[in-house]
Amino acid sequence: MKIIKTNNYDELSKKGAELLIEEIKKVERPVIGLATGSTPEGLYNEIIKFHKKTKYSFKNVYSFNLDEYIGLAEDNENSYHYYMNEKLFNHIDIPLAQAYVPDGMAEDLKSECTRYEEAIKALGGIDIQLLGLGVNGHIGFNEPGTSFDSRTQIITLEKSTRNANAHFFSSGGEVPEKAISMGVQSIMDTKKIVLLVSGKNKAAALKRFLTEDVTEDFPATILHKHHDVTVIADKEALSELE
Ligand code: GLP
Repeated sequence: MKIIKTNNYDELSKKGAELLIEEIKKVERPVIGLATGSTPEGLYNEIIKFHKKTKYSFKNVYSFNLDEYIGLAEDNENSYHYYMNEKLFNHIDIPLAQAYVPDGMAEDLKSECTRYEEAIKALGGIDIQLLGLGVNGHIGFNEPGTSFDSRTQIITLEKSTRNANAHFFSSGGEVPEKAISMGVQSIMDTKKIVLLVSGKNKAAALKRFLTEDVTEDFPATILHKHHDVTVIADKEALSELE
């Protein structure tokens, strides 16, 4: 595992964008895995800046988001669909038909999970996957206790996760109790992983991730078994690890 230490969030976002762009340029039809939450917002801004400045086209890129809340439609401001449109897709030229996000409104959620896995497989798998780290060690929405064998599935969110994400719901509405998430095995199948960790509130989680043995109680620890993981962490996130 490679660890890149940055002085601050800005540097972390720039470094993350650099790695993602490098990978996109390398492959003829790149398939990228995307995350939501506060952490990747700066990275997405960097990608938009790069696109505007260089006119580099993302027309050949396919993307798969890690997760989506169940019961929130694409036009709901609190959905991850909406987040992705606002923070990235509306500002670059990736065709929306190539930008997959699980459908949290699907009538048959189980089939939606299978469909999602099949879509990833049909494109030959994910070349590079962005990840954030939950305070409880979740990756995607795979909460502690999730089987390491899991594939895209329905997850019941922990109270702590719903609390941690409540600030995104300031415009009203409660954080849903369930979500669809790529599974731990789906994440482990990706060819390259970039884990972004920023801020003091992640310091304890980053310490656990880097120092604990692999355990389903802290899902991110499975990444120690992946052959190509780069962790980008800023000073504040690293503050408990001197
Ligand atoms: C959220 C998302 C994850 C994200 C993580 C960290 O709940 N489902 O994909 O990586 O938790 O979020 P944040 O970056 O806001 O701390």
